[in-house]
Amino acid sequence: MATQIFTNISLLANTQGHSGFVRGDKLASLTSIKDAYIIIEDETIAEMDVMENFRFSKGNFSVPENTIVMPCWCDSHTHIVFAGSREEEFIDKIKGLSYAEIAAKGGGILNSAKILNATPEDELFNAAWKRLEEVSKLGTGAIEIKSGYGLSVEGELKMLRVIKKLKEKSRLKIKSTFLGAHTFPLEYKENHAKYIDLIIHEMLPVIEREELADYIDVFCEKGFFSAEEMKIICEAGKNHALKPKLHVNQLNSIGGIQTGISLDALSLDHLETLTENEMELLGKYKGASTLLPSAAFFLRMPLQPARTLINAGAAVTLASDYNPGSSPSGNMNFIISLACIQMKMLPEEAINAATINGACAMEIESDYGSISIGKKANLIFTKPVPSLAYLPYSFGNNLIDKVMIDGTFI
Ligand code: NIG
Ligand code: FE
Repeated sequence: MATQIFTNISLLANTQGHSGFVRGDKLASLTSIKDAYIIIEDETIAEMDVMENFRFSKGNFSVPENTIVMPCWCDSHTHIVFAGSREEEFIDKIKGLSYAEIAAKGGGILNSAKILNATPEDELFNAAWKRLEEVSKLGTGAIEIKSGYGLSVEGELKMLRVIKKLKEKSRLKIKSTFLGAHTFPLEYKENHAKYIDLIIHEMLPVIEREELADYIDVFCEKGFFSAEEMKIICEAGKNHALKPKLHVNQLNSIGGIQTGISLDALSLDHLETLTENEMELLGKYKGASTLLPSAAFFLRMPLQPARTLINAGAAVTLASDYNPGSSPSGNMNFIISLACIQMKMLPEEAINAATINGACAMEIESDYGSISIGKKANLIFTKPVPSLAYLPYSFGNNLIDKVMIDGTFI
């Protein structure tokens, strides 16, 4: 058995053993050990304590002074399988066009779908693999990936097969979500029922048979899928063993939250546009309220009301939404900074939201999301920093020295 011992760690951050969503006041307390050591056996965290109790004489590696060790980010909402890029729309937006106007012009998601359908599977795999490498160097150790740029039977299945291969080959923990209901392809704009039929009868059975997805997602939004359409699709998904994990209330409030809760969704994501009543509902809802601040930032929208949601008791979770249209970055360190700077989350709250709550939003909290005995050794070793708060404070700077995935430095 390979044993690794690291000593003189200034702070071992987020060492909670309990593994459900952290909510309300508790989000601000990040269980930690000051002046600590940690022992890793193979892939697993075996022991940790204060240096005072350290009894081993050899085989240990003293980390540089002022190193913080924390769990890797658990990014529970991304779209990293995509082809091409959309910086032309970025320029259009600078010039004043809105996200909805760009989508109405055949841009947006449809633009990405056109390129993706023309891209071979191995090219898609290679591009997504590079993105996984990039985000893992930035500290992401577990990630959810959605389809949704295929929008045809072959395109959606191709994307999901790429995600399946990423799952098999990558050391990162990956969860797969089917998002065939990302938008209506042009030919079904006037015939929603026909596209929904395609999803239910042509895509879902193959997805179940080939075990291509863990979850089902729908973009519930004006001009995209209504709450009623989302309900039909998710109920069909449930018959194929897929739990809902949904895009709701990004641009408009059209009943996505109420329907999502009634569907017992694992997470409700985006939440830029919320009524008072919806915030109260999220406070009582048992799944994740996943905030994607970089999408709001990139689209120049007001950021999500994190404080009100935390006060209401919601299971606030943070994710990157890495995608070519609304968040062309998967840097979770920047997400943490945005959460603290623009949404007034405390550093401890942001870290809980992006680690243990992210793990819960992917149902992998028994192995990931905190530094706890028996969990996987997925760890970020920082460069020398004076405190935990320095991480979000020093935004845009890369303060990660090393990242360990399942006991191995990448
Ligand atoms: O999560 N809002 C819907 N889907 C993505 C954006 C997709 C795109 O523009 O390509 C999101 O923001
Ligand atoms: Fe998204």
